[in-house]
Amino acid sequence: MNTAPSVFGSVHLGYVVVESDRFADWRRFGTDAIGMHHDDISRDVMRFRLDDHECRFLIRRGPAEDVVAIGWHIDDHTSFEQVEARVRAHGVPVVRGSDEEAALRGVERLLRFPGPKGLVQEIYTTPVVSSEPLRMLASGWVTGDSGMGHVAITSAKPTLMRGYYHTVFDARLTDYIDETISGVKLKIRFLRVNERHHSIAIAALRGLPIDPIRTRVQHLNIQADSLDDLARSYERVHELGFDMALTIGRHTNDKELSYYARTPSGFEWEVGWNPLVIDESTWEPSTHQGISIWGHRPVGQTILDKLDQFRLGARSLVRPERTVPALSGAGIPDD
Ligand SMILES: [Fe+2]
Repeated sequence: MNTAPSVFGSVHLGYVVVESDRFADWRRFGTDAIGMHHDDISRDVMRFRLDDHECRFLIRRGPAEDVVAIGWHIDDHTSFEQVEARVRAHGVPVVRGSDEEAALRGVERLLRFPGPKGLVQEIYTTPVVSSEPLRMLASGWVTGDSGMGHVAITSAKPTLMRGYYHTVFDARLTDYIDETISGVKLKIRFLRVNERHHSIAIAALRGLPIDPIRTRVQHLNIQADSLDDLARSYERVHELGFDMALTIGRHTNDKELSYYARTPSGFEWEVGWNPLVIDESTWEPSTHQGISIWGHRPVGQTILDKLDQFRLGARSLVRPERTVPALSGAGIPDD
């Protein structure tokens, strides 16, 4: 049971931490292709900005080639303490981030605790705002009350993951998508913590306890201010020779127009435009058939990629997915 009051609406996706050894590629990808503001912090750390926040992406040197932590901006100290108290009440350890770690992330009052799939969850109250003007190819990105975008995660234990975000952040189910890819049935749960249609998407193979994706995060999403920004970044991804994963298309549920590029670390990066915003007074969850109204065609996926996915899937049967059981059993209905 959650302790009242709800923190729904006070939680926003604030930053993402990526571990990679491919710094030169990441810099080109983030700056020259996607069009974000770039700052070198040290030999082992670089950051991208989308807006006046000092840090939206922290890339730190290391072998994971994956997202390793997700940072959540909590609007006020009362809600922040509410989240902390919930995590502690379930017996899950909460660790205070050091001053150096908070400075690297450009935040105040940093705490971290374990999350699903080994993805560390971090919370903070106040982002540090930069006085340095943005130098970037995009005209702007939509952040604010909606947060900076969303994270999509594949899971062999989607019910537990949904329970986790419900318990910790009062996440609400926005809708479902059922999809069939190469004869394999997929169910995706879309969760929101504020007005953004979803900040977390959980994709699961129906009836199969298999996770076919190597990385903890399957894709990240950021939202372009304008259609021109989206289209021009799409052109640059092509021109600079980065891999496209899915061509431009429109999603069935949030109606977002988007494309998916492949990051230097291997997971995908979705740039979107114009997703619908949820009106809490009228919204009812529903199930959509298929992820796209049109487009989003896979690019260059060969039979070898598919075999590789099944090989990884078989491995996931041997190595069970990490969960945080104490925070995942909120007893919410899920089908
Ligand atoms: Fe997405």
